[in-house]
Amino acid sequence: MTEKIKIGILTAGGDCPGLNAAIRGVGKSAIIEYGMKVYGFLNGFSGLIENEYKVLDENSLSGILTLGGTILGTSREKPFKALTDEDQILSKPEKIQQTYKELGLNCLVCIGGNGTMKTAYKLSEMGLNVVGVPKTIDNDVWGTDFSFGFDSAVNIATEAIDRLHTTANSHKRTMVVEVMGHNAGWLTLYSGIAGGGDVILIPEIKYDKRVIKKYLLNRQKSGKPYSIIVVAEGIDIPLKKDGTKRKSSAGTYISRMIQELTGLETRETILGYIQRGGTPSPGDRIIATGLGEHAARLIHEKKYGFMSAYENTKIVSISLKDVAGKTKTVPEDHSLIKMARSLGTCFGDSLEGE
Ligand code: F6P
Repeated sequence: MTEKIKIGILTAGGDCPGLNAAIRGVGKSAIIEYGMKVYGFLNGFSGLIENEYKVLDENSLSGILTLGGTILGTSREKPFKALTDEDQILSKPEKIQQTYKELGLNCLVCIGGNGTMKTAYKLSEMGLNVVGVPKTIDNDVWGTDFSFGFDSAVNIATEAIDRLHTTANSHKRTMVVEVMGHNAGWLTLYSGIAGGGDVILIPEIKYDKRVIKKYLLNRQKSGKPYSIIVVAEGIDIPLKKDGTKRKSSAGTYISRMIQELTGLETRETILGYIQRGGTPSPGDRIIATGLGEHAARLIHEKKYGFMSAYENTKIVSISLKDVAGKTKTVPEDHSLIKMARSLGTCFGDSLEGE
């Protein structure tokens, strides 16, 4: 009798909606379609280092499609960081190799963002068979049009912006809302456009505070009762006069700046981790399932060292070597930016028509 193919799955980095859908996508197709045995490592790469796992079967993979978070837990453990821990006999990558060998794994599925894909690539360089699945609300994984988690976060942020419109209108206020996304502006761009933001500030476009001031005062003069400013957490904010970093977040900085420059009554909302919580959107469930199922197929076909990716509405494979170490940011000439500009949206760099 031929031995079963054994695979490991882990979720690493910041969580997002759709992780369980992806675990289920990989696991169910691995078990049902290919007859594989599936180990789920706990808390990201920590579980692989410490040999902590649970065996996943059809029952444990049932009923998790709509669940937020991850049934495996996650962590920000980066096994290739600080390789020289002298108290340890084995380095973390060596411990990972040991776990992999001891369990007799044929492949490891790493579900994560940019950092995870880089680690996955380094593990494949060490000789482990690895396949990647991209997740993140930031949508900044290189080589895939969309990563799951993003669509749900766009929905959450958009709903929050919708709610800010009504209270902003009642009080005739300027509302600043800070959106996550790390150093990429995808989440801010999409939710800003979907939520009808008047000013959208993203890390990829350098803003000028004089432009924002003029734009907001023009709106007020023309009789618009309120304004909504959607700000990415990763925009540049200036250092303090003494050259040290500000403790305030991007949203708080922009809100205070606007109030000071324009005299308009301004309030800020920092959306934070609610953007990562809760049930995945239908779109994310579908992408996560598809990317996961594709990963299992890659293993079946012994195509290791690849990441499942979403390209032009199709699920494809892309080499981890091409993905590792890169970040997908918003191109300044992105069609959505052009579209929003032509509707009068301000990106802080120039006023339309000037
Ligand atoms: O990558 C997802 C993300 O939520 C980013 O948008 C944010 O900058 C970061 O993670 C927050 O990280 P942590 O969970 O470590 O606080």
